[in-house]
Amino acid sequence: MKPGHAAIGSINSPMQCMMKEICAQCLQPHKDPVTGKTSYVFSCFNQDQPLDHVDFGALDARLRQNSVQEKLTAQWIAFCEHDRKLSRTAD
Ligand code: FES
Repeated sequence: MKPGHAAIGSINSPMQCMMKEICAQCLQPHKDPVTGKTSYVFSCFNQDQPLDHVDFGALDARLRQNSVQEKLTAQWIAFCEHDRKLSRTAD
């Protein structure tokens, strides 16, 4: 990107409390590209963040924290839908 650019991205938050600064599961580290100083942002409170500051490794790890639960939920929903289809054909 050109020097002096401004890039803003909407950073995902896992759907946890979404009550702005309560559970901290949406905490996103930022690293200032000039000073190297690390700071933290509650993504549920401030979703639009400067992309040059976002720690994408931490973002990836944070978004994976619920992956097992999400996969189990998807399997459960698929099972329930399949079960519902079977019960409709039995009627
Ligand atoms: S989701 Fe709980 S503080 Fe952001």
